[in-house]
Amino acid sequence: MDKKYLVLNIEQEYRADLENLPWNLPLDEWNEKQVKFLDIRKGISKHIVRFIKTKDYSFAIKQTNPISAYFESETFTKLLQKGIHTLIPAGYVFYKKNLFELNAEDKESLAFIVTILEAKSIPHSILFKWDFSDESRKTIYKAAAELLAVLHHNNIFWGDASLSNILIKFIKTKNELGKSHTELKAFLSDSETITILKKISDDLIKKDLKGFYDSINAITNDYSAKEKSKSISMLDIDKKYFKKEYKTFYELLNKIVEFEKTTGLEIRKHFFKITDQYSIDSILKQIEEHKWYLSEKSGSEVDITFTAKDWIEKVYNPIIKEFNKLKIFEYFPDTNSLKLYTDIMAHKYYLSLENSEDVGIYTAIRSYSEKHSNKEETLLSKFVEKLFKRLTKIVPQNYNL
Ligand SMILES: Nc1ncnc2c1ncn2[C@@H]1O[C@H](COP(=O)(O)OP(=O)(O)O)[C@@H](O)[C@H]1O
Ligand SMILES: [Mg+2]
Repeated sequence: MDKKYLVLNIEQEYRADLENLPWNLPLDEWNEKQVKFLDIRKGISKHIVRFIKTKDYSFAIKQTNPISAYFESETFTKLLQKGIHTLIPAGYVFYKKNLFELNAEDKESLAFIVTILEAKSIPHSILFKWDFSDESRKTIYKAAAELLAVLHHNNIFWGDASLSNILIKFIKTKNELGKSHTELKAFLSDSETITILKKISDDLIKKDLKGFYDSINAITNDYSAKEKSKSISMLDIDKKYFKKEYKTFYELLNKIVEFEKTTGLEIRKHFFKITDQYSIDSILKQIEEHKWYLSEKSGSEVDITFTAKDWIEKVYNPIIKEFNKLKIFEYFPDTNSLKLYTDIMAHKYYLSLENSEDVGIYTAIRSYSEKHSNKEETLLSKFVEKLFKRLTKIVPQNYNL
């Protein structure tokens, strides 16, 4: 190989492992004597993709054209900067004779994009062939739908939205109490056709969704005629499920932005994580009520961003602090503070409707606890009394919690 024809644009840390590969040869001509290959399942692809193991790392190498190699590598970086789950690029490589000569012939030109191998990922196409439970399939669709919603929310058009271009992976995350748990997430694995726009149009959104549905349909191509008739109705259910999850998540993302703009509060900072629209609505309603209360008290209309900050400091944070002090999560293990808070408030609201009068926070907490905690009754009573006493100290008098 003549190194003067080689253009290596590889991140420093991977350079030593990658610079001496046979870049002067097409990927399908690389052989085991030169390179250690890994036999890992992969999705359907137009290009040749091979997985290799070097001294310190494992990579996926895709042979493509120079423009795509450069573009894909840059795009992965941009997506990662936006916090979108995608592959980590190691860089790109060109091998081209007479690269810098005018009128050079184009025939001996090779280009590669190199990404870090996601060894733990399981390509979907294989997953769907397994005798998969409905629930697992749904988890995958939900992860894929969320990825697509995040892209569109960031005004990114995929252009090749497809099950073949997604990898799924369990990632470890921590909850607000620092306990770690795993979550299944979808990763974008093919960025060749990505366009980052100022504002994505409804047409492009529809195109991406259609692309995704087509890829769901394509699964049936691998089935026999008998299996096909059986699976078509199932795929329709899958598509509906995907659409529902997509829509819910897309709306949630929009709602979060709207909430942050209106109140000046940062969701991540104050509420850790919001997973449903209902919680946002409920919080907003309470901030509005707090605004009413503050305005009454001061005799003039109080600003909403001021109110929001005041509500967080004087009502929400102190209540959550009491939740934690009383180890409330031992009574309701499958929740987080925000959800618990909004759930109790919602419970109070419905109980009051049922009784045609404001039942008050004590009755609400009591009834909620009886319904949703599996702790023994006397223990629970004690707990509710304690919590109630503390809460009444926090919220302003004649404040309708
Ligand atoms: N870094 C990677 N780790 C694991 N699998 C990968 C990686 N890069 C690509 N693949 C697999 O290779 C397949 C083809 O790659 P892709 O970029 O989609 O090629 P094409 O542009 O030809 O569609 C993907 O479906 C994915 O399963
Ligand atoms: Mg692809």
